[in-house]
Amino acid sequence: MIGVFDSGHGGLTIFRELTARFPKLSWMYYGDHANAPYGNRAGTEVVDLTQAAVAKLFLAGCKLVILGCNTATAVAGKTLQQTWLPHVNAQRPGHRVLGIIAPTVEAVTQTPWHVKEPVFPQKYNTDTVALFATQVTVNSGVYEAEIAKRCPQVRVLKMACPKLVPLIEAGAPQADLAAAVTDYVVALLATTEIAPAYAILGCTHYPLVAQHFRAALPPATRLLNQPLAVANALEDYFVRHPEVASGAHAGLIQYFTSGEVGEVSRVAELFLGAPVRFGKL
Ligand code: DGL
Repeated sequence: MIGVFDSGHGGLTIFRELTARFPKLSWMYYGDHANAPYGNRAGTEVVDLTQAAVAKLFLAGCKLVILGCNTATAVAGKTLQQTWLPHVNAQRPGHRVLGIIAPTVEAVTQTPWHVKEPVFPQKYNTDTVALFATQVTVNSGVYEAEIAKRCPQVRVLKMACPKLVPLIEAGAPQADLAAAVTDYVVALLATTEIAPAYAILGCTHYPLVAQHFRAALPPATRLLNQPLAVANALEDYFVRHPEVASGAHAGLIQYFTSGEVGEVSRVAELFLGAPVRFGKL
């Protein structure tokens, strides 16, 4: 079974893509709604909460957990992989954690996973990339560091959008969402003369307001589809690690939350476009 974790509902945009792409695998979603949002928390809190959530998914039987949250990936991903997982695996081997930032950066720089060093001349130098994300993700500097490793000449323009997650979670009217998105896009565009080649919606909630980003951004700016990039990277990962996708597959899909199951299930419908029932974990 493969687990997907997010602070709340945002990871469902990733989960929906993954379950559609790999329907024969069994999947478990866990949203830490009781502690969401993570996007304005201290880094140490995000690490502790993410570790506790991943531990729950491991205990529930997941061997691989995907952090379907940019904030958790940016702040906790490397710490969990490098300092916590070795302890977990010393007791019960075979557990893995993957983030969603590297697949996104690979897609935006068109630099596949195995290219770790800058390649000159840059075949796909996209010049300017716009990043819209939570405050924590923006502060972490992880996106520009990962982009610089692959394409050092790319300029990354960043905009924290702290109003968006609360508005999306609250099911705010489209006019309010459009106005908030437009304000952030206008503020970012004021810092550049050149239309960004790509815009990364670096928060898993933002695909729900992608149409407002599309409308506010210049037509020449391509919107990166993060759920698609993550699904493509996972397909590639399964080729390299076939053992992760092997075994008995019931095609089971389960949803869990630390929050209030009725309310969480209601809001989840906004993300999935279909009714879904969450359990408590
Ligand atoms: N969905 C999370 C992300 O991708 C952020 C939501 C939150 O602030 O908790 O960054």
